[in-house]
Amino acid sequence: SSKKILVLGSVNADHLVRVPRLPKPGETVAGKDYEVIPGGKGANQAVACARLGGQTAFIACVGDDAFGAVMIQRFKADGIDTQAVCQVADQMTGVALICVDSQAENCIVIAPGANAKLTTRRVQAQQALIAGSDYLLMQLETPLDGLLEAVEIAHNAGVKVVLNPAPAKALPDELLTRVDMITPNQTEAELLTGISVNDVVGAAEAAGKLHAMGIETVVITLGSQGVWISEEGNGRLVEGYSVTPVDTTAAGDTFNGAMLVALSHGESLDKAANFANAAAALSVTRHGAQPSIPSRDEVEKLVAGTKR
Ligand code: RIB
Ligand code: NA
Repeated sequence: SSKKILVLGSVNADHLVRVPRLPKPGETVAGKDYEVIPGGKGANQAVACARLGGQTAFIACVGDDAFGAVMIQRFKADGIDTQAVCQVADQMTGVALICVDSQAENCIVIAPGANAKLTTRRVQAQQALIAGSDYLLMQLETPLDGLLEAVEIAHNAGVKVVLNPAPAKALPDELLTRVDMITPNQTEAELLTGISVNDVVGAAEAAGKLHAMGIETVVITLGSQGVWISEEGNGRLVEGYSVTPVDTTAAGDTFNGAMLVALSHGESLDKAANFANAAAALSVTRHGAQPSIPSRDEVEKLVAGTKR
């Protein structure tokens, strides 16, 4: 019996160019292999949830352009409930301009487009969907007022609120105090706590600070080192899988989606983090955002084949 996951967040068309190295300010670098690929943190996380076997619905805004229509079809093909994905009139679908260098490092600029329309009123309209879910998973690429509204509805209905605080930004207490689980990377954890997170010691300290803000479960991703999981001050490292990275875009999104799926199937936090590490590792071995998200089969094989 799997629980219901609701993702609220952004949809972007990722305009991707591979470059030998990232340009410096004022510099032009010749790249290759220009592609337009489905992305956006919200969409990536929803696709990860659905592809990995989670019962998934998505609240999002796309534009009334061709890309927006295609995205909705693709979400459906991945098994996502799209009744709350709106095509907004006179808007373009969000866009991300992405450069990826030969070290798999990236640089991203986003133009929100229709994502900016996911405000209070549109979230209110989905009250029943939110209150009827078991988990609400959100990121920070859509307006804060909409996120606050969603958190308020979820919190009052006893829905578990999971926040992936990406891209990094300072957040009001009224949001953080209603979050049940937070999943920052090192940069985001530093920004939220003021503690530098370079290793497990820093991660434990930052987790303590997030607990003190009222957040029950803290999951700090530490790149190739793995992930620090902490429940009410009881923290431990769940080691990652080592792979040769090609493109880390959407690794964090894959991690978040995978973790929610495992939790929604009743797995422990430790097992969920391990499953999510495996899913994220597979995603960094492939180019692009949504096309790089693995299937459940692939993740299960990696988990089964590796001694932990
Ligand atoms: O997290 C990766 C995503 O961030 C990309 O797909 C891009 O759209 C940006 O929003
Ligand atoms: Na990838």
